[in-house]
Amino acid sequence: NTNKLIDKFGRQVTYVRISVTDRCDFRCVYCMSEDMEFLPREEVLSLEEITRLSKAFVEMGVTKIRITGGEPLVRKDIVNMLADVAKLEGLEELVITTNGSQLTKLAHPLKEAGVKRINISLDSLDADKFKKVTRVGDLNTVLEGIQAAKKAGFEKIKLNAVILKNRNHDEVNSLVQFAMKEGLDISFIEEMPLGAIESHSRQEAYYSSDEIKRDIEQQFELLPSTKNTGGPARYYGVKGYDNLVGFISPHSHNFCDTCNRVRVTASGLLLLCLGQEHSMDLKQVLRANPTDLNKVKEALIESMDIKPKGHDFDMTEQPVIFRHMSVTGG
Ligand code: GTP
Ligand code: 5AD
Ligand code: SF4
Repeated sequence: NTNKLIDKFGRQVTYVRISVTDRCDFRCVYCMSEDMEFLPREEVLSLEEITRLSKAFVEMGVTKIRITGGEPLVRKDIVNMLADVAKLEGLEELVITTNGSQLTKLAHPLKEAGVKRINISLDSLDADKFKKVTRVGDLNTVLEGIQAAKKAGFEKIKLNAVILKNRNHDEVNSLVQFAMKEGLDISFIEEMPLGAIESHSRQEAYYSSDEIKRDIEQQFELLPSTKNTGGPARYYGVKGYDNLVGFISPHSHNFCDTCNRVRVTASGLLLLCLGQEHSMDLKQVLRANPTDLNKVKEALIESMDIKPKGHDFDMTEQPVIFRHMSVTGG
């Protein structure tokens, strides 16, 4: 088993989420503080380093790579890098999570590069509320981006909505309606306490998956579904429609037992769990061994010893995890 990544609890890592930048053209209230400071360029992995690292992961049995950010599509030359990663032998799925702001121009090139599926964040269908949640985002640009993604012909497009009480909790059903009409799956996400953010109380904003589900059931009939993407979402069918509604509930339904993933931050820190600090500095390993991929693979194997059993998020005002989501990539 020396060419597989298996942790102390017998869980095999087959899915890696790689953040290619901590920068973003939005400033979502649950993700970033208003005056975020970004990493200096030399601290960020180069696209070449990310490609080498992806190769090491794939040679160790990883079959799915999700590219995240910040906003991955604000990184220059990202499409060329994606094309290189997509060609790695053994990689079954290259997927991306985006805020949708660049899709009008990039959806088609992404598809051409070999990106299979795409997740687009959409928290509101009301231009004013969208602006309040993202602080600077423009709803129409994202809606156009979604249409461009549909035209580009991805295997699957999924919407992600983080629901916050008194901000967009009243939009749950309009979001479901929109997704079904457009023929897209949609996941509702409970906010996670990553990084302190001024003027935003996570306790007050907490809106559970059970509340969201109850709201949906006022208007739609949810049907049991067996779909499992290997991710944390629990999916339901919607009577009368072909698409699914998912719930990602780190607080109310823990999914750590079957965790199959690790993350890499934009600065090359391997994070063994989203809700814990256990990490390994891969940037240092990559830079110390510019030609020897075996050293990188050895480091990955070693890291399996420190993958924790699970997270223990709590909703106290002071987050236990100081990193912001934009650094982690979700
Ligand atoms: P697929 O299952 O491939 O469709 O993707 P996904 O839902 O895992 O990915 P996406 O990037 O769309 O993430 C949606 C939300 O799920 C984000 O808010 C992530 O932070 C959250 N998420 C993904 N993986 C984990 C995890 O291991 N733990 C926790 N707590 N949240 C996760
Ligand atoms: N809690 C939950 N989800 C978050 N996202 C960003 N920050 C948080 C947070 N603190 C979501 C984004 C995007 C996905 C990658 O992560 O809205 O859909
Ligand atoms: Fe940018 Fe996504 Fe964070 Fe919003 S959630 S600020 S779009 S990285």
